[in-house]
Amino acid sequence: MEVLIVDTPEAAAAFAAEAVLDGLRKHAGENPVLGLATGSSPLGLYAELAAAAQRGEADFSDTVGFALDEYVGLEDTHEQSYRQTLIREVCDVIGLPVENLNVPNGHGESVEQIAAQATAYDEAIKAAGGVDVQILGIGANGHLGFNEPASSLRSRTRIKRLAAQTREDNARFFDGLDRVPTHCVTQGLGTVQDARRLVLIALGSNKAEAIAAAIEGPLSASCPGSVLQLHPDAVVVLDEAAAAGLKNRGYYDDAAAGLQFGI
Ligand code: F6R
Repeated sequence: MEVLIVDTPEAAAAFAAEAVLDGLRKHAGENPVLGLATGSSPLGLYAELAAAAQRGEADFSDTVGFALDEYVGLEDTHEQSYRQTLIREVCDVIGLPVENLNVPNGHGESVEQIAAQATAYDEAIKAAGGVDVQILGIGANGHLGFNEPASSLRSRTRIKRLAAQTREDNARFFDGLDRVPTHCVTQGLGTVQDARRLVLIALGSNKAEAIAAAIEGPLSASCPGSVLQLHPDAVVVLDEAAAAGLKNRGYYDDAAAGLQFGI
């Protein structure tokens, strides 16, 4: 795992974007596959990818995107659905065609139907050649995607109940907590780990505890983010506030000095 700690959220976004582009150069073929996270953490990263595209250093017009997760029961046209969020915050920003965007299907007549669609989503990722670079944020409770604590470390895309803390954290986007969906469809931790590179960005002091547990704590379903420890090509980019709980800081800084994609 590469852990990069930088002074500001802006620098973190720039380093994380470079890690994404480097990962695509290393791992992707003619039709790159990018795993997309929603949330506030990667917004600067997406802006940096857009800037790289404008400079002619990147081109996402042939890129296929797979979202990490989607709410169950929100209309696809709902502005807080992750489909609409990703169209607004990623497709329109970096130039990834909307028709290349895949989002888990959170609609169905029954739980069984949604479960079958979730399995089909995993298959669709495989059929596209697998995710080359997966962009990730982390929840204050350590969740990756919507894999809440106690999620199986080998889980595949499936329906999950959202943790109370996650619903509270996301209530800011809805008209009140009772409007936040209770369930989601999320890529599993096994699905996430199949990506060839993981790039996680975490910003701010409310992520410090989760980051310390994910990077330096035991591998445990209690902190889903700890699966990063199993991945052969995981890059974690942090600002100082998010890194505040790390004990092994000196080593990360020394090791980062040897990375080839320094900006
Ligand atoms: C987003 C996702 C979540 C977020 C996490 C952090 O698709 O699956 O795991 O990455 O909740 O959210 P922010 O970045 O808003 O703090």
